[in-house]
Amino acid sequence: MSSQAQSIQMPHSRQGSPMWSSRLAFILAATGSAVGLGNIWKFPYITGENGGGAFVIVYLLCIAMIGLPILIAEIYLGRRGRMSPINTMKYLARADGSSPHWKYLGWMGVLAAFLILSFYSVIGGWSIAYVGHAVSGDFNLADSATIGAMFGSMLQSPSTLLTWHSVFVLMVVAILSGGIRGGLEKTVNILMPLLFLLLLVMVGYAMSTSEFMRAVDFLFTPDFSKLSTEGVLTALGHAFFTLSLGSCAMMAYGSFLPKEVSIVKTSVAIAVVDTLVALLAGLAIFPLVFANGMEPGAGPGLIFQTLPLAFGQMPAGTLFASLFFFLLLVAAITSAISMLEPAIEWLEEQRGINRRLAAVIAGVAVWSVGLLSVFSLNTWADFYPLSFMPVFAEKTFFDVIDYLTANIMLPLGGLFIVLYVGRCMKPEILSQELGLKGMPFRLLMFLIRYLSPALVMVVFIYNLI
Ligand code: PFF
Repeated sequence: MSSQAQSIQMPHSRQGSPMWSSRLAFILAATGSAVGLGNIWKFPYITGENGGGAFVIVYLLCIAMIGLPILIAEIYLGRRGRMSPINTMKYLARADGSSPHWKYLGWMGVLAAFLILSFYSVIGGWSIAYVGHAVSGDFNLADSATIGAMFGSMLQSPSTLLTWHSVFVLMVVAILSGGIRGGLEKTVNILMPLLFLLLLVMVGYAMSTSEFMRAVDFLFTPDFSKLSTEGVLTALGHAFFTLSLGSCAMMAYGSFLPKEVSIVKTSVAIAVVDTLVALLAGLAIFPLVFANGMEPGAGPGLIFQTLPLAFGQMPAGTLFASLFFFLLLVAAITSAISMLEPAIEWLEEQRGINRRLAAVIAGVAVWSVGLLSVFSLNTWADFYPLSFMPVFAEKTFFDVIDYLTANIMLPLGGLFIVLYVGRCMKPEILSQELGLKGMPFRLLMFLIRYLSPALVMVVFIYNLI
C-alpha cells in the first residue's frame, strides 16, 4: 500500500490476511472473471451480426486502447486500497485529499456486478440445462423446429428456469464460501485449464471441418463496408463487458494482489488471454455454422439454437455438444464468482460477519433479484416496469437490468475509475507503483487521462440517446 494511503486510518484494511498465492493464481482468477458468456455466447453472435473482420479489428483496438488502461487502473486501485471496493474508494479518496463522494463509485460497481449476476445466473442456468440436453443426445438429427421448440419451452417454463437458476447460484455461493485461497483459487486452478483444454478440443474439431478457412476469412479479413457506427459502439461496449470493467470486480480481486506483482504485465496477460478466448470461440463456432449452411448473424440464439442444429448433424455430435455446453458453464461460473465477491467483501468488513454467512446472504439476495429475470421470460414477458421512461419503453425487468448495467453503470464506473486515477492521484505515485517510466508511462497517462474517458463518454451518450 502506498505510504500516503497508510498514513490515514484504514479500519477495514486486511493487513496480513491471505493474498493470492502467486501471480498465476491471480491471472487465472482475473481471466476467469473476464472469460465468460461474453466471450463464448456474446462475442460470436455480435461479430456475426456486424459482418466479421472489420468489427473484430475495431474490437481489438478498443481492448488495447480503452479496456487495458481501465483494467490497469481498476486493479491498481484495488491493490492500493486492500478493502472492498466501497471502502477502498472511501479511504483512498480521503488519503488523496479528494471528495468523500468517490465512495459512490464503489457502491455503483458493487451494485452493477450484483445486478449483472441476477440475470447472468439465469443464462448460466440455460447452459446447465443444455449440458443435460447435449448429454441426453436431444440434438441428434433434430430439425430446426424441434431445436427452436426446445429453447422456447425452456424459456416458457418458470419452474425449469428457476431450478437451474437456483442450482447456478448455489454453486457460486459454495465456491465463494471457501474464501480466496480455499474457494476461488482452488476452483480457478481446476476450471480455467479445463476451459482452455475444452476450447482447444472444440477448435481442433472445427479445423477438421470443410469450412474452417471460411471462418478464418470471416473473422480476420476486414470489409469495412459491413461495419456501421452502431457496430463500432457495440465493439467498444463489449470491450467493457468482456474485461469485467467498471463493475469493481477487478478491483475486488486486485485487493488480494501481492505487492511485488507487476500490474501492467499482469493486465496485459489478462487482456490477451481474454481476447484469444473470444477469437478461439469464434474459430470453434463459425466453421460449424458455415458447414451447415447457417447464418452467422443469427443473433443471441446463435449458440442455443443454431449451434445445436449443427451438433445434431455432425459425427460424435453428442460428445462435442456436451463438451461445448460444459465449457460455457465453466466460463459462466468463473465470471459469476467475481460478480458476488465485491458484495461479500463489503458484508464481511462492514457488518463483521464471517465469509460463509456473507456468501449465503449475498447469494439469497441475488437469487431473489434473479426471479425478476426468470419471470420476465414468461409470466411477465409483457410487463414493462419502467415504460414511462422512453429508454425503458418495451423493456422487461430482464431487459431493464441488462440495459442499465451494460449501457449505463459499467461505462460510468469505468469512466470514473480512469478519472480518479488520472486526475485525483499524483502521477509520481502511479509511476512508482506501476513500475513505469518515460515514454510507456506517458502513453499510459495519455490513455487514462484523455483517450479512454473521451471515448467512453461518446459510447455513454450515444447509448442514452
Ligand atoms: N466478463 C464477463 C463476460 O465476458 O462474460 C462478464 C462480467 C464479469 C461482467 C464480471 C462484469 C463483472 F463484474
